[in-house]
Amino acid sequence: MSGTHHASPLPDVIDELWERRTELTPGDARAREAVAVAVDAIDAGQARVASIDPVTDEVVVDERAKRAILLAFRLMPMARSQVGDFRYDDRVPLTTRLDGVRVLPGAIVRWGAYVAPGTVLMPSFVNIGAYVDTGTMVDTWATVGSGAQIGKNVHLSGGVGIGGVLEPPSAVPVVVEDEAMVGSRCMVVGGARVRQGATLGAGAILTPTTHVIDVETGDELPRGEAPAWSVCVGGTRPRDFPGGTFGMPCLLVLKRLPAGVRHDKSALNQILRDHGVDA
Ligand SMILES: CC(C)(COP(=O)(O)OP(=O)(O)OC[C@H]1O[C@@H](n2cnc3c(N)ncnc32)[C@H](O)[C@@H]1OP(=O)(O)O)[C@@H](O)C(=O)NCCC(=O)NCCS
Repeated sequence: MSGTHHASPLPDVIDELWERRTELTPGDARAREAVAVAVDAIDAGQARVASIDPVTDEVVVDERAKRAILLAFRLMPMARSQVGDFRYDDRVPLTTRLDGVRVLPGAIVRWGAYVAPGTVLMPSFVNIGAYVDTGTMVDTWATVGSGAQIGKNVHLSGGVGIGGVLEPPSAVPVVVEDEAMVGSRCMVVGGARVRQGATLGAGAILTPTTHVIDVETGDELPRGEAPAWSVCVGGTRPRDFPGGTFGMPCLLVLKRLPAGVRHDKSALNQILRDHGVDA
């Protein structure tokens, strides 16, 4: 799961502040302002923690964006956000950029996360640094971890856990590509990648080291990745230990679909998006 560095749209003052991070305090107004501007650019979708290089198809990580976010935790003062009579106290307030996003009560998006117009947020949590692209549904109790990158027209089903990357700082974010369907209560963590149009069956677990096996051929595919336009479920593979042979978790690729064809059970009825009814 290699990530490469690329030129950041954020200013290099962030790197200078990062080098001095242990000396910085919320009282340092100049540093705080620089970090606030950088995190706000991430909040606006002008900078992002990671993206897919269209030429190499690799995940490229903007370390400066991650640094800005980590610095925000050190530098931002406690702030109060208010929703009705309910109040929050956090160094990271709620985002205020939600134009064109349908947000149901109980959904939380922290400042520094970008949520594109045309998305639907059921009661769910989107952490700082995450990027959620248009047409995507974040269903009930799904969590999108810090820095995770979610593509267009994705369905993150109820209770899905998409891991974050703030700890450790060198980690590559989770990427869920366009048109993917992540079934209920799946866990996708630590730099795992769900490629375009993939369907993950309910309850599947994908980590960067998860073995991925094509059941048609028996082939071991690249670890930690659900292949594009495939249908995958959590399975087990036998592994020998001194104490016997036991089943270890893996991801089984059950089907390959033609590119552009979504699995028939994964099509989310348009009416659910329009009215935001839980699927
Ligand atoms: C993975 C999935 C898409 C497969 O659907 P399908 O192509 O119609 O395939 P089937 O349901 O016939 O299942 C194929 C096999 O995989 C097994 N299987 C299905 N889903 C599974 C899952 N999530 N985990 C493990 N095994 C699973 C079935 O038992 C079946 O085994 P069998 O052939 O020995 O009977 C579907 O089962 C699923 O999990 N969809 C996600 C549902 C969901 O989370 N919806 C969210 C709404 S908020």
